[in-house]
Amino acid sequence: MCGIIGYIGERQASTILLNGLKRLEYRGYDSSGMATILERKKRLSIRKLPGKIRTLEKLLNKKPLTGTLGIAHTRWATHGEPNKLNAHPHLDCKAEIAIVHNGIIENYAELKDELIKEGHKFRSQTDTEVIVHLIEKYHTNLSLKEATRKALTKLKGSFALGIVSCREPDKLIGVRWGSPLVVGVGKNENLLASDIPALLDVTKEMIFLEDEEIAVLTQNNIDITTFSGIPVKRKPLHITWDVSQAERQGFSHFMLKEIHEQPPVLEGLLRQKIKDGEVIFAELEPKREEILAKKSLCIVACGTAYHAGLVGKYLLEELAGLPVAVDLSSEFRYRNPLVDKDTLVIAISQSGETADTLAAVREAKNKGAFILAICNVLGSSLTRESDVVLYTYAGPEISVASTKAYTAQIMVLCLFALYLGRLRSVLCVEAQQKYLNALKKIPQLAEKILKEKDQIRRIAQRHAHFGSFLYLGRNINYPSALEGALKLKEISYIPAEGYAAGEMKHGPIALIDEYRAVVCIAPQSRIRQKMISNIQEIKARRGKIIIITTEGEEEVRGQAKEIICIPSVEELFSPLLIALPLQLLAYYVAIKRGCNVDQPRNLAKSVTVE
Ligand code: G6P
Repeated sequence: MCGIIGYIGERQASTILLNGLKRLEYRGYDSSGMATILERKKRLSIRKLPGKIRTLEKLLNKKPLTGTLGIAHTRWATHGEPNKLNAHPHLDCKAEIAIVHNGIIENYAELKDELIKEGHKFRSQTDTEVIVHLIEKYHTNLSLKEATRKALTKLKGSFALGIVSCREPDKLIGVRWGSPLVVGVGKNENLLASDIPALLDVTKEMIFLEDEEIAVLTQNNIDITTFSGIPVKRKPLHITWDVSQAERQGFSHFMLKEIHEQPPVLEGLLRQKIKDGEVIFAELEPKREEILAKKSLCIVACGTAYHAGLVGKYLLEELAGLPVAVDLSSEFRYRNPLVDKDTLVIAISQSGETADTLAAVREAKNKGAFILAICNVLGSSLTRESDVVLYTYAGPEISVASTKAYTAQIMVLCLFALYLGRLRSVLCVEAQQKYLNALKKIPQLAEKILKEKDQIRRIAQRHAHFGSFLYLGRNINYPSALEGALKLKEISYIPAEGYAAGEMKHGPIALIDEYRAVVCIAPQSRIRQKMISNIQEIKARRGKIIIITTEGEEEVRGQAKEIICIPSVEELFSPLLIALPLQLLAYYVAIKRGCNVDQPRNLAKSVTVE
C-alpha cells in the first residue's frame, strides 16, 4: 500500500508535493520519489531513493526539482525490495512519461514478457513499471489520456495512478480502479492524492473519484470521464477537517496525540447524537422501517475495527436483543456467509478503503443484505457502497496503530445499540436514560485516565524488557484483551497474545512463568471473582502480572503490585475506558524499546490490497 500525490498549477510543485507526501507517509514509508516537468524545456526530472520522506527532502534540498507540474509517491513494497530502482515514479524507455501507482497489477508478469519481446527495457522489479511501458506503447500516436485508456484495458488488479508526460506538459492524469483517489480543487491549481490530509494545505474542496474513472487535470479545469469515455459531472464536497488535525501539535508522536484526542472525539459524538434524552440518528430515519425489520446482525471488519466489532456484539445482543455474528472480512468473503435480505450487515472501517472489508460488503450486498457502514473518512469507497453510513467523526488518524478511531467506533456502536434497543422496545425509556447518563460521563473519565499517564509510563518502563506478553479479559473485555495485545505487537514487535481468561486452562497457562508478563483486565464486573481466580493461577506460576481494574475494587487490587486503575464505569461501556491504558502501555513500551511508534515496520495504515 502506497500514497500518491500530483500537482498542476502556478506554484512550484515540489514544495506542495513534499508537504502532501509527508501527510501520506502513514500509507507506506520504505522509499519515496518525485518527478516534475519543466514546461519550458519539456523535460522530466526525477528524484527517488529508499528510506523515509525526510531522506527525499534532504535530497531535494541538495538537488531541487523545479516545475509547476509533478507527481510524488511514498512506497510500501509489494513487488521488489525497497531500493532506488523500485521506488516510484517509474518512467518509460525514453523518460518522457512518469507514473506513480498505489495498488497491485495482478497480470504484470505476462504483460512484462510481452513488452520485453516488443523491445521495452525494464529497470525495476515492480508490477507498476508495466503500466508506464504500456502507456508509452500507445502514446506514440494517441494523446496521453487516450493512451492511458487503452493501457487500462490490459490491466487486471486494483490501482490508483498519477501520470504525467512531457509531451503534454499541461496535464496531470489521475485514474482510479479499486484504490482511493481524491481530486483537490484549487484556484489556478488542481491536485490529486490518495487521501484527504495530503491536500488540506491547498484546498478543502474535493471530488472523490469512483472506480473506473479518469480525471484529466489542467491548471484551471477538471475533466472526469469513465474508462469507457462517458463524461462524469460531480460537485466537490467541502471537507471540514482542519489542517492542524493532521499535525503533531507538540506531541512526540501522532499516536500519543491521537490517544489524547479521544475525550473530545467521544464528547463530540455524544453531543451530536443525544438530543433531549434520546439517541437520534437522523441519517437512519429514512431507512428506519427497513432496519427494524432485520432479524439478525452481522459485523465485518479487519484489525482494530474487528475488535470494535467484537465489542459491538456484546453491546447489540445485550441492548438491542438481536443475534450478532462477527466476522473478519477476509474470512467472510471466501466462505458462503449466511446473510440475506433479513440481515443487517455492519461494516466497520476507519479508512473505508480496506480491500477485504469492501469485498465482504460486496458479497453481502449480492446476497441481498442491507449495509450499514461505521466509517471515519467522508467520501471513502465504503461510504459510497453502503446503504447508510454512521460517521465516527474522529478526524484524520495518522498513526498506523489505531486508537481514537477504535474508541469512536465503539462509541457509535454503543449509541446504535441504544437506538436499536429503543426502536425494538427491548429497552424502556428509564433503562435508556440510565445508560445514556453513564455514557455521557465517559469523556470526562477518559480525561482522568490520561492525567495519570505517567504512572502507566513507569509500569511500561519496568516491563519493556519482557520477551512476550499475554493479555487476558472476559466478557465484553475479551475484545479489549485482543486489542491490547495487537497494539503492543504492532508497535513494539513483542509477541503478544490476547485470550479469553476462561480459556486459560485450555492452553495459555502452559506459557506462564516468571519471564511472561500478563496483563489482566479485571474491572468491576459481575464475573470479577472469575478473573480473581485466573490472577491467582498466574501468580502461583510466577507470571509478572499487571492488573487493570476499577477504582474501589480492593480485592482485585490486592492481587498484584502493578495496578492501573480506571474510574468506576458501567460494565458495558468499560471497553471505552480500558482502551486508554492499553494504548498507553503499548506506546510507552515501544518508546522504551526505541521503536518507531508512528511507522512500525512492515505495517501500513490502510490495506487497500488483499
Ligand atoms: C490496518 C491498520 C489497522 C486497522 C486495519 C483496518 O491493518 O494498520 O490499524 O485497524 O488496517 O483498517 P480500517 O481502515 O478498515 O479500519
